[in-house]
Amino acid sequence: MRQNSSTEKVVIYPGSFDPITRGHLDIIERSAALFNRVVVGVLMNPDKAPLFSLEERIKLIRSAVSRFDNVEVDSFNGLLIDFARQRQSHLVVRGLRAISDFETEFQMSLNNKRLAPEVETMFMMTRNEYSFLSSSVVKQIAKFNGDVSDLVPSEVEEALKKKYALK
Ligand code: PNS
Repeated sequence: MRQNSSTEKVVIYPGSFDPITRGHLDIIERSAALFNRVVVGVLMNPDKAPLFSLEERIKLIRSAVSRFDNVEVDSFNGLLIDFARQRQSHLVVRGLRAISDFETEFQMSLNNKRLAPEVETMFMMTRNEYSFLSSSVVKQIAKFNGDVSDLVPSEVEEALKKKYALK
């Protein structure tokens, strides 16, 4: 693991990534252009049972971000702010889609601020073409053999087909 020098800006991009979508990738790509390093933090135990295991989600993300040399993938359990502290980061980035995301994200960032005043949460507006996109929508479409090819990386499309045993 690389050492974090005091001038290096490391941003944490946390989420469930069940599975990673092109919307997530867009945020990763734009963050990688702005910061020295992006740590994609995959939550181990989301409230809902994930479709993909933690190992599967990490593998799919790693394959999707392999072209970026300043992006790494890690997992965490418990509080996001503890993970940020552990990774010596003061920055968290989250994507914002529609207004409906705002309330949850606002609540989450204020709670994180209360717990760790030194950690800043930044928001990036998703691209227009991904503003309707979510992992849940992708799973719903893929489950019934709908086309998700322009919504997720090709490895994810394949993995979804296997999960839902579609040919
Ligand atoms: O992709 P998601 O499911 O929208 O990501 C949500 C995530 C993982 C960022 C959020 O649930 C989280 O940070 N969980 C860790 C628990 C935590 O720190 N909670 C306190 C903030 S309210």
